[in-house]
Amino acid sequence: MSTTFQLDTSTSRANPTPAPMRRLTVPKIRARKVDGVTEEPIVMLTAYTARQAQLLDPHCDLLLVGDSLGQVIYGLPSTIPVTMEMMANHAAAVVRGSYHSVVVVDMPFGAYEASPQAAFEAAATLLKASGAAAVKLEGGEAMAETVEFLVKRGIPVMGHVGLTPQAVNVLGGYAARGRSDAEAEKIVGDAKALEAAGAFAIVVEGVVEPIAIAVTEAVACPTIGIGASAKCDGQVLVTDDMLGMFERVPRFVKRYEDIAATISATAGKYASEVRERSFPGPDQLYQPK
Ligand code: KIV
Repeated sequence: MSTTFQLDTSTSRANPTPAPMRRLTVPKIRARKVDGVTEEPIVMLTAYTARQAQLLDPHCDLLLVGDSLGQVIYGLPSTIPVTMEMMANHAAAVVRGSYHSVVVVDMPFGAYEASPQAAFEAAATLLKASGAAAVKLEGGEAMAETVEFLVKRGIPVMGHVGLTPQAVNVLGGYAARGRSDAEAEKIVGDAKALEAAGAFAIVVEGVVEPIAIAVTEAVACPTIGIGASAKCDGQVLVTDDMLGMFERVPRFVKRYEDIAATISATAGKYASEVRERSFPGPDQLYQPK
C-alpha cells in the first residue's frame, strides 16, 4: 500500500503527504511554450530518493524518477532490468520529498510496449502507488497510439526520442543519433507523432544539435534536451552525473561538482579516526550524570 497519503481525521479526506503547497501542474508546464517560444526554460533533474528530492525540489520545475536509477542506484548494466517495483518505490519517495515540482516517473522496459492496454495498467499502477503526476515512455511513432490511449484516459505522458536507452540492444550502443538524413527525419517525425498523440513534453536525448533545434521548432509542446541543444525548451541531466558522483560521464554532462571525491575523502577521515580511536570523541559520548 502506498504511504504517500494520510487520512485527515478532521475532514475524513485523504491528503497527499507532504501536503501540497503550490505544486506545479502538467498543464502549467505545457503552457510554458507559447507559439513556439518558451520564455522561461524548463528545469528538470532526476531524483530517486526523498532526501535528494527535498534538496532539488526548490530549484526544479520537474523531477524525473528516471529508469537510470537502474545504473545509478542498483549498479545494473543498463535500464533493461529495471522493474515496476523499483520505479514505484522510488517515485513514492520522491513525491514524499517534494512540494513544488511535477514528479514524472519512467515506465520501465517491458511494462508498456506490448499494447496500449498494458501501458495503461502499468502507468495507472505507478501513479497510484507513488502519487506522481505523469509518466515518461521511450519511443516515437510506434508509441503514438499508446500515448493517445493514456492521455485520453487521464494519464499525462512525457515522450522521449532520439537516443532511447531502453532500445540499446537495437541501437547497438549509446552513440548520438541523427547523423544521417534518414535518422534525422525519423527523429523529427517521431516527435511530431508524440505531440499529435497528446504528449505534454518530449525529452530529446543524444542527438546532433541541428536535429534538436529542428524538433523544438517542429512541435508545439516543450522539448527537454539532454545531449541535445541549449535551444531546447528545457534541460535535464542525471543528478548524480551533474554532481560528479561518477568519474566517467557522457560528453554532454557538465560535472558541476566532484561529490565522489568529497565522499571518498570524508570516508577516509572517518576510517582514520576509528583506527586511531579518536572517534567517537567527548562531543559524541554520553556520560553518567
Ligand atoms: O532515465 C533517465 O534518467 C532519463 C533521462 C536521462 C532523460 O530518461
